[in-house]
Amino acid sequence: MPRFPHVAPSSEGLSDHVFSRLAARAQARGGRVYPLHVGDTWLEPLPSARAEAQRTDAFPRLHNYAPVQGEPALIDAFLRHVERRSGVSLSRACVQVMSGATAALSVVADTLLSPGDEVIIPAPFWPLIRGTVRRRSAVAVEVPFFDRLHGRTGAELEAMLDARVTERTVALYVNTPHNPTGAVLPDAALAAIARVAARHDLWIWCDEVYEDLYYTPSPPVSAWTRPDFSERTIVVHSLSKAYGLAGARIGFTHGPEAAMGAIRGVQTFSTYCAPRPMQLGAARALDEGGAWIAQARALYREAAHRTADAFGVAPPEGGTFLFVDLRPFLRPGEDGMGWLERCVDAGVLLTPGSASGSDYGSWARVCFTSVGPDDLAEALGRIRAVLASR
Ligand SMILES: Cc1ncc(COP(=O)(O)O)c(C=O)c1O
Repeated sequence: MPRFPHVAPSSEGLSDHVFSRLAARAQARGGRVYPLHVGDTWLEPLPSARAEAQRTDAFPRLHNYAPVQGEPALIDAFLRHVERRSGVSLSRACVQVMSGATAALSVVADTLLSPGDEVIIPAPFWPLIRGTVRRRSAVAVEVPFFDRLHGRTGAELEAMLDARVTERTVALYVNTPHNPTGAVLPDAALAAIARVAARHDLWIWCDEVYEDLYYTPSPPVSAWTRPDFSERTIVVHSLSKAYGLAGARIGFTHGPEAAMGAIRGVQTFSTYCAPRPMQLGAARALDEGGAWIAQARALYREAAHRTADAFGVAPPEGGTFLFVDLRPFLRPGEDGMGWLERCVDAGVLLTPGSASGSDYGSWARVCFTSVGPDDLAEALGRIRAVLASR
């Protein structure tokens, strides 16, 4: 059947403009608009990890292809990082360097899913994960979860997930610390997830991109290291968040060796390898970035608390976002989008909660790391004024 001029049905609903309506309004408004919608940082990365620090005289063939599995120096640095962070010695064969966690999850989806398969996605969720699944002509099954943790037993959480499993379910996606709520999943929730996965023989996709951005007294346990996760879990990590290297596009995947062989095969046909200069910078970040991260974490923690104060809600336990239920702040007859439009008119761009799940149209996601402390104070002042003008 000829297709021209149409694209494949699986690509039709995909868009790079999850925030488009509000962004267009911001552009039409003109003037300064504070971008609290993008999950990025105002901090420059560790000097030795920056693009300009990678030099051909120090690394001959800097711009050649890297091995598909990844630059050996980066894999070594990652193995050391995992050992330090989570106390686990991973086998080298199980690790694959990726062009960021977005590409990593796409490759995982391509490797594990067939059209029509289903993936359970506890909601609200990172906006791109839904499209990552749909891109594969698979079904993203949204299960409201993170805003329902409080006061529920492990058995109740298990029942919520279990009820959505069908014979087409292949995987369950777990992200902790979490985008957008900033929650760190408690042991009872992780155990519930593990029981559901074991009962139905599901893969677990563990998204660890915020593993080093926690505001709890000690680092959260890495979910994938739990004995009830490890045999069935594919893990993704990223240098984007904790190291401020989102533009470098460096991440990792690891999991059971047999699956990793197939993942490496699919990776060969997607980007082949991650950019070599940035892999070398990433190795420096992993080896030398401890103090940089500690400082970033302290600044982000402060920003998280100030942002939570502005909305009068509890601060997040990790990550770079606050997820706020706007219902107490809406004018009579107003919906979440109406409130966000008023916010844009005041000069602050936030992400509509609907990007994180179909149940969250009256919520908003606020990134507290995308601008520095002075700009954040200005943006929060404007938000406070919108909150007050009900
Ligand atoms: C939960 C989550 N997973 C994955 C990603 C993608 O990260 P990367 O920049 O490594 O592609 C993000 C980025 O916002 C995220 O929040």
